[in-house]
Amino acid sequence: MAKITASVFTSHVPAIGAAMDLGKTHEPYWQPLFKGYEYSKQWLKDNKPDVIFLVFNDHATAFSLDMIPTFAIGTAASYQPADEGWGPRPVPVVQGHPELAAHIAQSVIQQDFDLTIVNKMDVDHGLTVPLSLMCGEQDPVKGAWPCPVIPFAVNVVQYPVPSGQRCLNLGKAIRKAVESFDKDLNVQIWGTGGMSHQLQGPRAGLINKEFDAAFMDLMIQDPEAQAAVPHINYVREAGSEGIELVMWLIARGAMDDLGGGPAPKVKHRFYHVPASNTAVGHLILENQ
Ligand code: DHB
Ligand code: FE
Repeated sequence: MAKITASVFTSHVPAIGAAMDLGKTHEPYWQPLFKGYEYSKQWLKDNKPDVIFLVFNDHATAFSLDMIPTFAIGTAASYQPADEGWGPRPVPVVQGHPELAAHIAQSVIQQDFDLTIVNKMDVDHGLTVPLSLMCGEQDPVKGAWPCPVIPFAVNVVQYPVPSGQRCLNLGKAIRKAVESFDKDLNVQIWGTGGMSHQLQGPRAGLINKEFDAAFMDLMIQDPEAQAAVPHINYVREAGSEGIELVMWLIARGAMDDLGGGPAPKVKHRFYHVPASNTAVGHLILENQ
């Protein structure tokens, strides 16, 4: 049986990817941020999964206003890093896990969540930056990510966006789906995006440290309470792009305690401002 062993939560700021790709991680601006991920890189080496189920948002790269799936699961064998305007990031191609992805699609759709099946998709910074932060620099040709990845894209760019409650419930369905796969696989689920940030309009540059700290507290202790927070509160308090945080609830919903098991162990908690226009938050939770 496959099993979700841990969840990882992290922001995905594109400038972090650029700092890594251009060798700037030791510059004074970036050094404190990357220091916060030293523990995480070692943790991932010590706790190498067989598959990462990676919840992220596409930024009008794979999808455009022509077609806006709310929840899209990648069932392909591989995914190319996307060209986001300055050429694709020099990172390895992302290998998929079509067999587990197809099983999760079957199970989650039968649990009444309408997923879009995606057999071809390029992946942008929403997916590659979390991988880079957790795995460190990788040679684009000779290197490889540590394991296959199932990309799961959530629409948080074009309204209407899914509610926190729906995201948490979807996570619960994903846990059931993984646990009904009849091969022994160690699966991690990653929830990415956030934290508070706003990239446009009169409030561009908004950061709300109090909101972010309270969000992380509830993510650990009471995700059901966080799931009840309506989307408009994220926008008002955490900025227009702060809504990316609802994706963390999908990964959190897939942890054992939301299916009646014990509370997860907090292995790592990190928060740093600034990174580009964004507050960076990061958590690692392990099922007991
Ligand atoms: C920034 C943050 C994001 O989440 C994003 O998708 C693009 C840019 C930023 O802080 O610059
Ligand atoms: Fe983003």
